[in-house]
Amino acid sequence: MASPESATAPTPPVPALALFSLHGTVALVTGAARGIGQACAIALAEAGADVVCVLRRTTKSNAEHDKQDVDHKVSPPSDRTGDDGGTGESKEVDVTVAEGGGEAKAKTQGTIAALGVRAYVVYADLEDMADVKSVWARALGLLGREEEGGEGKPRIHILVNCAGVQRRHPSVAFPEEDWDTVLDVNLKACFLLAQAAGNHFLSFSESKGGAYGRGGKIINFCSLLSYQGGFTVPAYAASKGALMQLTKALSNEWAHANVQVNGVSPGYVRTDIRAGKWTRAWTAWSRRLGQ
Ligand SMILES: NC(=O)c1ccc[n+]([C@@H]2O[C@H](COP(=O)([O-])OP(=O)(O)OC[C@H]3O[C@@H](n4cnc5c(N)ncnc54)[C@H](OP(=O)(O)O)[C@@H]3O)[C@@H](O)[C@H]2O)c1
Repeated sequence: MASPESATAPTPPVPALALFSLHGTVALVTGAARGIGQACAIALAEAGADVVCVLRRTTKSNAEHDKQDVDHKVSPPSDRTGDDGGTGESKEVDVTVAEGGGEAKAKTQGTIAALGVRAYVVYADLEDMADVKSVWARALGLLGREEEGGEGKPRIHILVNCAGVQRRHPSVAFPEEDWDTVLDVNLKACFLLAQAAGNHFLSFSESKGGAYGRGGKIINFCSLLSYQGGFTVPAYAASKGALMQLTKALSNEWAHANVQVNGVSPGYVRTDIRAGKWTRAWTAWSRRLGQ
């Protein structure tokens, strides 16, 4: 039993930010080449995590597709802003990095490495389910030699499903191919990666979970269109609505094992996915709110 002295002894001071440190953990982030995914990957690294960036070998921005689709566009009424997505300039991203290390030329990878944590790259096209199904194993393979989990195996602690695509057409003319692309990247790939993460997280027993215990974190990037319908974006709205439901389903199922599954629904963020939607009105509005 604690002595009266120790019961009243002051708690040793712990710097507040240390409580949020991710030092010693590994996060896997999709869509890490640019936009919100890149910001997440860098922020996780700033908090101390090693980061596995999931990148495409060849970038295909939403803007490229939107340029092709320009003839099919229907502009929503100007006072309606629930249509998440956009058009804009195509940006090339230098992702010429050898898998598993090599020369760090990717912008995200270089920035992360400069923060003093490890940065890894796994290439995957999230429209290709064979690719998606191999991501987790390839990431563990890269970590294998360096990261030892509580049971002597490599470990990933955090999955961030951030990659996403947008296609815009009136619903009456929405191409089936674009429907499949959006649902595959925004929903199916997220599920398959979460399934791999869930299997991994649940494989760490309570007694042998290592320094971070058992469990893990999954963060899915949902959208305002998880709640709203938007205009000319039926596939995106369907995918993000379903992703939110998937988040709840997995959260219910895995909470007992200390696996937290959460969804984030960002407001409008000025990235390639909605570059062309950033009109003068948006700029004025965002200036008032702060970006
Ligand atoms: N920006 C907003 O206002 C906003 C609002 C709500 C929700 N969101 C959501 O937040 C997430 C990030 O959006 P963002 O604005 O950062 O978009 P972004 O700038 O367009 O970036 C999208 C990312 O997803 C990756 N990606 C797309 N298709 C892929 C594929 N087939 N395989 C692998 N990677 C693929 C892209 O890779 P590449 O670089 O190779 O193309 C890119 O890194 C998305 O899920 C989006 O739906 C955004």
